[in-house]
Parts: sequence; C-alpha cells; structure tokens
Amino acid sequence: MNKRFYITTAIDYTNGAPHLGHAYEKVITDVIARARRSLGQEAFFLTGIDEHGQKVQQAAQAEGKTAQVYCDELAVIWQSLATKLGLSNDDFIRTTDARHKKVVGAILTKLKAQDDLYKNSHTGFYSVREETFLTEKDRNPDGTWDPKWGQVNELIEENWYFKMGKHQQWLIDYLEANPSFVQPDYRRNEVLGFLKSQPLEDLCITRPAARLNWGIPLPFDPDFVTYVWFDALTNYITVPASLGDPAVCEPLSLSTNSAQPSTALWPADVHVIGKDIVKFHAVYWPIMLQAAGLALPKQILAHGWWQKEGAKISKSTGNIVDPIAVIDEWGLDAFRFYVVRELDIGPDGNWTDAGFRARYQAELANGLGNLVNRSLSMLKRYRDGIVPAPANDLADDAAKAIAEVRSKLEKNELQGALQSVWALITRANQFVDQTAPFKLAKDPAQAPRLDEVLYNLAETCRILAVLLWPFLPTTSTRINEQLGISGSPDGFATAAWGGLKQGHTIGSPAPLFPRKDA
Ligand code: MSP
Repeated sequence: MNKRFYITTAIDYTNGAPHLGHAYEKVITDVIARARRSLGQEAFFLTGIDEHGQKVQQAAQAEGKTAQVYCDELAVIWQSLATKLGLSNDDFIRTTDARHKKVVGAILTKLKAQDDLYKNSHTGFYSVREETFLTEKDRNPDGTWDPKWGQVNELIEENWYFKMGKHQQWLIDYLEANPSFVQPDYRRNEVLGFLKSQPLEDLCITRPAARLNWGIPLPFDPDFVTYVWFDALTNYITVPASLGDPAVCEPLSLSTNSAQPSTALWPADVHVIGKDIVKFHAVYWPIMLQAAGLALPKQILAHGWWQKEGAKISKSTGNIVDPIAVIDEWGLDAFRFYVVRELDIGPDGNWTDAGFRARYQAELANGLGNLVNRSLSMLKRYRDGIVPAPANDLADDAAKAIAEVRSKLEKNELQGALQSVWALITRANQFVDQTAPFKLAKDPAQAPRLDEVLYNLAETCRILAVLLWPFLPTTSTRINEQLGISGSPDGFATAAWGGLKQGHTIGSPAPLFPRKDA
C-alpha cells in the first residue's frame, strides 16, 4: 500500500457566498494536485466545507429553516463551485457528515482518556446580542462597552479545555528543526515569534449546547458541543479514517473497513490555507495530533489575501469578485490563469479588472492563443495538416522550459512555472516572426526550411499542452485535440522534444481565447 501525496484546502464557512479568496485557494491546490499527478505521483486532493457554528445556526433561524436543511442547500452551491473551478478533488468533506462526527468523537475520547481534557468554569463578560464572550480588548478606553455589544453581563460559564502548554517547547523545537513545516519562511517566523513570546494558554474546545446547539456533542458530556476549530481541523483526518488508513485508524482505535482495501494518505503532504488561519494550523493542529499520537502533516502552505482594486473585498461595500461571473464571461482557464500568474503563493494580491483584461489579451489571446492558432493553421494550409520530419531549432528552448517547470512545480512555485512556460511561448512567437513561414511558403526552393519551421512550431504546441495541463486543463486538452493527439496531455514525461511523429495528421485549428475587443 503506497502512501499517496495528500493535499487539502481549508474548508470554507458556508454562511456567505463563495468569493475570489475561496476560489483562489482551491485553484492553487488543484494546480499542485494535478502537477503531482502529471509528475507521476498518486495524489489525493481533499476540499470541503465547515458547517457548524453560531453564524450558521443564526442564519438558518433567520430563514426559518433547520440548520441541517440550510446546510444541505448551501452544500449544493459549494460543491457546484468546485465543479465550476474544474477541481480534480477526490473527495468533498462536510463537517456534518456522519463519518466526520465519528472521527471527532474518537479524537475527543482519546484525549479525555489520556487526561488531556478538563472541565473548568470561566468568568467573563458576555454580549447577549452578539452571543459571544468579550475580552478586555473589546472594552472602550474608559472601561465601558461599546453600544454595539448590547447588554453585557458578567457570566460564569463551564467549558472543556485542552491542555496545550505542555507541548509548547516541543512545538518550538519542531518548528526550528523542520523549516519547511510552515511556508513561506516569514509565516514560520511569525509562529515561532508567537510561541516564544508567551505561555500557551489551554484551548477552550467546547461551547455549552444550551447556547449553541449546532455542533458535534462531546461523546462524554452531551451538554457541550465541540468548538468549531477543533471540529474543523479534524476534517483532514476524517477522510483518511473513512478510507481505512491505518495511520489514523490505529491511534484513534477506529475500525478499518476490512471489506475494502485501505488507502494510505496520512500524514498530509500539504495543507493549503490562508494567512489568517496559520495559528490554528501551525499551533493548535500539530498539538492536537501530537497529543493524539498521530503524525504531523509535512507542510502548512499559507497563501496571501486578495484585495480588489486596492481595497478589502467586502460584500457590504460591493467590492467583490464573483468567480462564477468571471468564469461565465471569460472562461474557466482565463480565471485560473490570472489568479495563478498574478499572485505567487505567500504575499497578498490585488485583483484589478484592467489587469485581468490585459493579461487575457496579451498572454492568453495574443501569446498562447495566437501561437497555437497560427502554428496549426499554417501546418494545415501548407502541408495538409501532415507533420513533417523532426527539426530541432526550438528544442533547447523547450528543454530549458521543461526543466524549469519541473523544478518549480516540485517546489510549488506555480507563478514561476507559468513564467517559464511563457518564456517558451514568447520565444516561439518570435521564431514565427523571424522565420516568416508565410514568406517561405511562397518560394518552392524554401520548402525544406518551411518543413522545419512547421515541425518546430507544432512540436512546441504539443509540449505546451503538457506543461500547461496542471494550470489550464481545458485549454491544454483542446490543444491536444487540435493536434489530433488522442488522450489527455497529463503526463509530464511526454513533454520531451520529438514526441510528434512525421506523417501524423493534426485535427482542426480553432481559436483558444476569443478576442474581447468591446
Ligand atoms: N472554516 C475556516 C477554515 C477551517 S480549515 C480547517 C475558515 N473558513 S473561511 O471561509 O473563512 O476561509 C476559507 C479560506 O479562504 C481560508 O484559507 C481563508 O484564508 C481564505 N480566504 C478568505 N478570504 C480571502 C481573501 N480575500 N483572499 C485569499 N484567501 C482568503 O477560515
């Protein structure tokens, strides 16, 4: 049983419409998953939704629905977003799944049996209107509470706590010894800075069911439901457990379904998440796993946040990018291309409509689209679509791009990989301009040279389809079809120069990216 490359996204809260930030994270994770598969690894890609919590409970109540009915309706919307984004996910987790509740119950039971959990009462100030405990930071400088909190009462509330402090030094040592555990480095440094600056408080892992009932009850104390983060983080081991992965089932004493062969996934290779939730993934999650006797994920990869037109994305101000509307207007691959090409994984990014259009026009329509269309149209026109004998003018440029893309994909440098692909596209377009095949075609004495030029161009298009597959799967498949090649261009090894054979007949060229001049 070979362990698969296991990659996950954050699971989205469903109490709002999907936006650019959610879509971006899912697309970069999909590109990494597809890249691994193309490079020959068996990959398993998990995404899903985070359905419990107070906001969902309130939103359901406001619509006069049960929380379950409300969540079932939203799950359809979020699952269709995954399809719309062309995600190649192998599973879609919902935190309301029975399989998930079972695993949350199992990890809590184990921690309780080990005496890692305890019940305690906490005195604090509670906003009745917002149904939340306030902290000293929420107080006005004069000690009063802002009217937005409504009535604030001092309350004593019992809850269950998870002992975290005893793992603090271990986690610091782990982060120092494993620099790739949290990436980019500046995020790892933030986590280390946080861990070294203060003693880690125990984590409150419940809410009283009387106050919040939309959650997973504690198996040993049903008056409490599991705190939403403890519930959500566990999703990453739910799916391996449901597939009988012994790396999860054994430590949690879960039975493996012996009727089915089990799938080895855990530990995850990469958890892709946004910068705002690094602490949960790089502090709470490793400590939960360590305490429960499970291996740690190999990497937490934190991406930055998008703004639109230089301002925060916000539904209330209308400053949003609706990924579905963009895809409907411009096509899926235009969306995938822009977000990956524009923003490297790590820093924050800024979506501008003008920038989107400019990249579409210059890089997709005039760059890739024009190269493929003119290369294949000339081959059709001058040689009846029949591939001439191999020639090697662009072989070194292609080899350079192939080597760079491979090495960047192995390091999850997706933006860099696209830059290397576009260097080859630019070079090939220059080659058309320099060799001027339309002129060569007018001179019968130049027929051998025209053969060479046409081979170089068609072969470059074939290689581009392979290199682009993780990023632009629809376009890459269309290039392959236009080249008359059956099967999907999803194996990186086939990118090597010379794959196109003399005498092969291509299909019909058609524009890949329609011009949008209006
Ligand atoms: N449910 C939690 C995650 C639990 S993971 C065990 C959550 N949900 S969320 O819907 O608020 O966010 C989901 C992901 O979208 C997070 O990784 C978050 O960083 C990302 N983004 C939300 N807004 C974003 C931008 N504006 N830009 C980029 N990504 C952002 O947190």
